Amino acid sequence: MAKGMIISFEGTDGSGKTTQIKALSEYLVNKGYKAQMLREPGGTKIGEEIRHILLNKDNTEMASLTEMLLYASSRAQMMEEKVQPLLNEGYVVILDRFFDSSLAYQSYGRNLDFDAVLAINLAAVKNIIPKITFFIDITPEQSLKRRKNATETDRLENEDMSFHYKVYEGYKQLLKRFPERIIRIDGTETPKEITKEIIKYVDIIMKEE
Ligand code: TYD
Repeated sequence: MAKGMIISFEGTDGSGKTTQIKALSEYLVNKGYKAQMLREPGGTKIGEEIRHILLNKDNTEMASLTEMLLYASSRAQMMEEKVQPLLNEGYVVILDRFFDSSLAYQSYGRNLDFDAVLAINLAAVKNIIPKITFFIDITPEQSLKRRKNATETDRLENEDMSFHYKVYEGYKQLLKRFPERIIRIDGTETPKEITKEIIKYVDIIMKEE
């Protein structure tokens, strides 16, 4: 059995990450791999409490640095409590957002220093980085259209369009910075086509392991 590994998914809100994560997880389990999906805060009690502060719409006064450190704290807790034990047992851990979200939202979106956000997050995850990251690309306009159907929004989703443009531009920069790890997937294709493409990449990785 291959060693455990992380596969992460990124994208703006409404990009269809969740559907793809479920499809990939089913595919891997059917192939006989141990696979576990997790989304931050990963069901940790401390992480849930932190997330409550982060997404609470009343917390309009939250400083950007506070926001970044809270995401990193929640992530550190999830790594220690959930991800590392799964990796040690040989699981493929499929993450719905990981530290690239902090690079896109907190560094590019909130204008925090990129190297600082990266360093803090690498410390939070003890330098355990995903084997591959899928960025499901839909534009902020498409994202807005899809989100209009959602009933509840959180504090981040309530930000104005200029914030979402910065986040989107951030993801594009991340693709350039980490070309060996992050794969862009066209999020406007049908869900079935997207799954097929993702599986094509994952099959290659699984063979390499
Ligand atoms: P999440 O619940 O994963 O939302 P979604 O279902 O839209 O993917 O994340 C909630 C919000 O938090 C989302 O708008 C993105 C934002 N976020 C950050 O700003 N930084 C981060 O590090 C993470 C993980 C999420």
